[in-house]
Amino acid sequence: MKNYEIPVITIDGPGGVGKGTLSRQLATHLGWHFLDSGALYRVLALAAKNHSVSADNHSALAVLAQHLDVVFEENPSRIMLEGQNITQALRTEECGMSASIIAAIPAVREALLVRQRAFLQLPGLIADGRDMGTVIFPTAPLKIYLEATPEIRAKRRQMQLKEQGIDVSLEGLLAEINQRDIRDKSRSIAPLKPANDAIIIDTSHLPIIDVFERVLAEAEKRGLCAPVAG
Ligand code: DC
Repeated sequence: MKNYEIPVITIDGPGGVGKGTLSRQLATHLGWHFLDSGALYRVLALAAKNHSVSADNHSALAVLAQHLDVVFEENPSRIMLEGQNITQALRTEECGMSASIIAAIPAVREALLVRQRAFLQLPGLIADGRDMGTVIFPTAPLKIYLEATPEIRAKRRQMQLKEQGIDVSLEGLLAEINQRDIRDKSRSIAPLKPANDAIIIDTSHLPIIDVFERVLAEAEKRGLCAPVAG
C-alpha cells in the first residue's frame, strides 16, 4: 500500500489551543498512530542543551537532529532520549521556547522531515503540530487548524501548571505565548498558518468534546473512518 492511501488527519495551530488533547483523543478513538511533532523539536532542544550545542550553531544542530536517539514509547506513553525518560523535562516553558528558536532553522526542519513522515503507518495517523497540513503531509485528506485567543490559551496553560502544583503569573505566560506566536508565525520556513484547505475551528469557547465530535464527523464524511452507529 502506498503512503497516500494511509489516512492522515493533520491538527495544526499555536500552543494552548487544545491540539494535544484533541489529537490524543482522536488517535485513541480511531486506534491510529499519533505524531506529536512539537515534542520532536523539544527533544532536539533538550539534546542540544545536554550536548552544549548552542542555538546559533546550525550545522551542529542539524547533525544532532539527524542522529537523535529518541524513542516514543506507547503504553505507558513516554519519551526516551539516549535511554533517559525525558517526558516531564520536555514540558517546561523554557524547553518550549528553546524548541521554538531552533525550529526556525531550515537545516533543522529538513533533518526532522523524514523522521516525521515515517510516523505515517497503517491504520492511520493523527499528526499534531504547526506545519503538518502545509509542509509535512500536504495531501492529507482532512486538515484542521485550531485557534483561540492568547488570553484564553494563557489561562488554560496556567490551569495545567496549577494541576502540577506550579504557580505561574498569567501576565508572564501571556507574554511568552505572544512571543512564541510571533516567532512561529513570522519565520521564513514553514511558518505557523492554516493550509488553504484547512478547516479552521476557534476553540476559545468550545469544549474539547465538541471539537472532537466535529472533527470525527468530518473524518466520517470523507470516508476516513466508519460512521458511528445509531
Ligand atoms: O507544540 P509545542 O509547544 O510542543 O511546540 C514547541 C515548539 O516547536 C513550537 O513553539 C514551534 C515548534 N514546532 C514547529 O516549529 N513545528 C511543528 N510542527 C511543531 C512544533
